[in-house]
Amino acid sequence: MSRTLDQFKARFGASGDIRLSRAPGRVNLIGEHTDYNGGFVLPLAIDRSVDIIFRPRGDGKVRLWSVLYEREETFELGRIEKSDDQPWTNYVKGVAVALREEGVRPGGMDALISGAVPLGAGLSSSAAFEVAAAQAFIQCAGVEIEPERLARLCQRAENEFVGVKCGIMDQFVSIFGRRGAAVLIDCMDLSHELVPLDDRAVSILICNTMVRHELGSSQYNIRRRQCETAAREMARHKPGAKLLRDFTWDEFEQWGGELSTTLRMRARHVIGENRRVGQAVQSLRRGDYEAVGARMNESHASLQSDYEVSCIELDVMSAEARKLPGVYGARMTGGGFGGCAVALARAGTEADVASALSQRYEEATGIKPEIYACRPAEGARVEPAT
Ligand code: GLA
Repeated sequence: MSRTLDQFKARFGASGDIRLSRAPGRVNLIGEHTDYNGGFVLPLAIDRSVDIIFRPRGDGKVRLWSVLYEREETFELGRIEKSDDQPWTNYVKGVAVALREEGVRPGGMDALISGAVPLGAGLSSSAAFEVAAAQAFIQCAGVEIEPERLARLCQRAENEFVGVKCGIMDQFVSIFGRRGAAVLIDCMDLSHELVPLDDRAVSILICNTMVRHELGSSQYNIRRRQCETAAREMARHKPGAKLLRDFTWDEFEQWGGELSTTLRMRARHVIGENRRVGQAVQSLRRGDYEAVGARMNESHASLQSDYEVSCIELDVMSAEARKLPGVYGARMTGGGFGGCAVALARAGTEADVASALSQRYEEATGIKPEIYACRPAEGARVEPAT
């Protein structure tokens, strides 16, 4: 941290109260494309975060420096416009707008942004950025906001200002993540519980295909609409049902045949995935990692053939991972169309799995992946910058 603090001081001066707002990325174990259907997800915060070193300023201006892009941008809180030229600033601006809509007047600041969440890798760098920015603004304003409200307003910033219709999972777990646990979230009412994942006998591997998921956001919005249509059509049999979450697997088997082929595939994924999350949580609590891995493999197959959000690189990565000794299961994680796979493996096999998988993946695709073990980490916080 001290190097980025030095950069901050060199750029913005060393005086005053300098703080650090830190928000982690996430990896989702299971429960993909279920959040915006009111369903269940099981993500964990990872030990890679977006870091904003900041100091309040009293004139309503926000001065940003991105270490990654080596670019500066200054804007006034009273006059916020979306930037086409520097799209990375829109996460901060969107959060400021969302705060204002909540009746909070965000405080101005000097801010230096750095971090270790890879961009476009499906580890939710954008949600981490929004949460880190929101925490900084709130501190500068000298107010407090309940964590759940914070998650929702960060989601709204992304939905409305940035223009990606994401669900609530990423922002929520960036705030509510805890060391040693995955977070089971019911996205219908945001009730949640921690599921212990601190067993030293098991390890989580993040396998970055290094393929960016740019195609993702238009397809993402299309999937969302298809799910809404499928739910509306099935609701003919179940008045009051609004989202795919409202249907059980038995109901899908009864009525799903009336949907068009595409809508049936989408609904089958979502309703099946909700059921798999419940099964995976029970298995995880029992320490039955074989069973958790089996559900992860099924999740991947469903995302690949029914939801159609995987890609060849994610398929290769997951399939090759599954063949290796010590791997219980593997699947794509996040929105899809690139980004990362997640694998569950027996502890002690990480190094062998990583090297064999790197080699096989590179042979098959010509791309050098990044593979590393991670542990569930704490959610977002603000601390003095040191
Ligand atoms: C992206 C979105 C999340 C979620 C996942 C898919 O990460 O931001 O809200 O929908 O895709 O599970």
